[in-house]
Amino acid sequence: MFFKFFVLMITIQCGWCDKVSPKPGLELFREDYKSVEETCLAVGFVKNNCKNDSQTSKTDQRVVAFDVRLKNHKRNLAVKARVVFETVDLNEGVGYNASTGIFTAPSGGIYVFDWTILSWQGQYAYTSLVVNDQFKSWNHCYDVVSKTSIPCSKMTVVKLNQGDKVWIGVFSGTANMYQKYTSFSGCKL
Ligand SMILES: *[C@@H]1O[C@H](CO)[C@@H](O)[C@H](O)[C@H]1NC(C)=O
Ligand SMILES: *[C@@H]1O[C@H](CO)[C@@H](O)[C@H](O)[C@H]1NC(C)=O
Repeated sequence: MFFKFFVLMITIQCGWCDKVSPKPGLELFREDYKSVEETCLAVGFVKNNCKNDSQTSKTDQRVVAFDVRLKNHKRNLAVKARVVFETVDLNEGVGYNASTGIFTAPSGGIYVFDWTILSWQGQYAYTSLVVNDQFKSWNHCYDVVSKTSIPCSKMTVVKLNQGDKVWIGVFSGTANMYQKYTSFSGCKL
């Protein structure tokens, strides 16, 4: 009788031993975490945030930055004309194409653009940041009083999808601007 009780006690204790793990929630946590990660990847809209560092660095975290300027004066550009900046000082991520003047976003995200125009003496240079053929931000450059060359700068921040096309276009009048002092730059945040 006493022996039977002793065996029973051992059995019960070992039963408890199995159940009491030093970190009870860990396995459950790992399973939950795995399913969250899988769901995250499956859903797709947060695709890049689900990826690990080595994968991310190859795609989304790549530096995208360019800085370009005019090589030739631009005279009498018509409305909707694209300003092609021929001199490329920086083109990390190869988003800017110097033969077309178009920057193509290599990846989606928030981008900062700046363009500075030096207008021809007494003449206009009304330019806009154009995103996929839509005017987004305006730079009105004209000194009606002193008729000197004036520099006009504009900075803007836009959200782009991968493949969106961005350039500087003329939104009004004919545009006249000096080379070298007229530049366009941008980078992904
Ligand atoms: C991260 O991604 C790389 C490239 O796909 C892969 O080789 C590596 O095993 C991944 N690391 C982890 C911890 O998932
Ligand atoms: C720039 O655009 C031109 C005209 O579309 C194209 O032929 C050329 O391959 C492009 N250059 C680069 C580096 O993508």
